[in-house]
Amino acid sequence: MSVATELNGSGNGEGDGESSPEKLLTPVLSAFWDQPDSWTLETYKRHDGYEGLKKALAMAPDDLIAYVKDSGLRGRGGAGFPTGMKWQFIPQGDGKPHYLVVNADESEPGTCKDIPLLFANPHSLIEGIVIACYAIRSSHAFIYLRGEVVPVLRRMHEAVREAYEAGYLGRDILGSGLDLDVTVHAGAGAYICGEETALLDSLEGRRGQPRLRPPFPAVAGLYACPTVVNNVESIASVPAILNRGKDWFKSMGTEKSAGFTLYSLSGHVTSPGQYEAPLGITLRQLLDMSGGMRHGHRLKFWTPGGSSTPMFTDEHLDVPLDYEGVGAAGSMLGTKALQCFDETTCVVRAVTRWTEFYAHESCGKCTPCREGTYWLVQLLRDIEAGKGQMSDLDKINDIADNVNGKSFCALGDGAASPIFSSLKYFREEYEQHITGKGCPLDPDLSTVWADEPRHISEVNA
Ligand SMILES: Cc1cc2nc3c(=O)[nH]c(=O)nc-3n(C[C@H](O)[C@H](O)[C@H](O)COP(=O)(O)O)c2cc1C
Ligand code: SF4
Repeated sequence: MSVATELNGSGNGEGDGESSPEKLLTPVLSAFWDQPDSWTLETYKRHDGYEGLKKALAMAPDDLIAYVKDSGLRGRGGAGFPTGMKWQFIPQGDGKPHYLVVNADESEPGTCKDIPLLFANPHSLIEGIVIACYAIRSSHAFIYLRGEVVPVLRRMHEAVREAYEAGYLGRDILGSGLDLDVTVHAGAGAYICGEETALLDSLEGRRGQPRLRPPFPAVAGLYACPTVVNNVESIASVPAILNRGKDWFKSMGTEKSAGFTLYSLSGHVTSPGQYEAPLGITLRQLLDMSGGMRHGHRLKFWTPGGSSTPMFTDEHLDVPLDYEGVGAAGSMLGTKALQCFDETTCVVRAVTRWTEFYAHESCGKCTPCREGTYWLVQLLRDIEAGKGQMSDLDKINDIADNVNGKSFCALGDGAASPIFSSLKYFREEYEQHITGKGCPLDPDLSTVWADEPRHISEVNA
């Protein structure tokens, strides 16, 4: 896995050596990941660590919220909601405890930015937490971390211990009067617990299922108190904004999608890894600087933001990877998880695997998602195994349509995305599976799910 290491001082890379594609990179969070002991407090402080906090504590909390809002920072957890505005929603003077909950449950297929960030640079998150808690007047923050990643859990515990020892957490932080405790909580590994209200239920000790909204977490979140839920990368981006200024941040990215971000390049590429670059960069530029697709192969399809965002093809290589650009092209920026598949990949097989994931992770609370994802899997497995019928294509489209927008939470919409987009761009490949009674790319793959020779409609007759 490679990591962006060259800092481009000017921000957007324009006019500063177009001949070198690496100049488009803007490593901030990943700037020293490849240095020895990058995760320690000592290394972090050598790279301006906790300087942003000093500047934040010199401001009034409301001014701090306005500053983050003005910077244009948008949530990096998927939806791109403005971070400062989310903080502003927390009622003040209500006499209730306020909470910050950091969403570190990262589990969307293809998404792999928060875990490496926490592993290599955990103090950027802790510093961001202290700043955010000062702004929203919170004295207790929680980090809800995917429990399977035990090395990161250990590293987070150690970083929190270091921060307490150095006076960045605990009582009267840096003499500011701010008291703050941080609890690192290990989740048990369910995709739905990344959905913010399911996460809050899980954190309270209940089964993780989404809550009805309103009330929104800003009004009644954790323990029914005002709560901000933010993604790891969103909070970890705040210290650099404070330290280097909102104008520096806004000099990167595009008008409505400001700043730098982590793009996770994976799949059939020469150099998979984290590429920290301004919002608005294109996949073509990212591939150019990272060695392209694996030797001798070409791009067939890719996701701009994880498996729940509609897939793109090689026609979309020049789409600006910001919220507006990707939206205008018919998908979503999501988590910026760029999974790239070459011409050897069967799109039906890939979509079937993703749909199996959504069916497995469906929490079962609502019927469209619980039933729809189950039936999508049955039909897709038939098509993949060469047992499908032409009418199945309209049927999967229809089932996806009954899940999309009609489910209780966005997991359902995410499950429908690969179905719609693959039918849009690759309907012919589905048809070839049906007319050719197997996968046109690799007939051996057709043996998968072929044990039961009948079509699903006959099995259930
Ligand atoms: C099924 C599902 C899974 C999600 N998983 C995550 C996740 O792992 N991490 C995350 O930050 N947001 C995840 N989200 C989005 C969160 O609900 C929420 O929008 C986000 O944490 C807000 O943070 P931000 O404003 O900083 O982006 C998920 C949403 C859904 C519907
Ligand atoms: S859409 Fe799926 S995951 Fe979300 S509440 Fe309904 S069943 Fe649960």
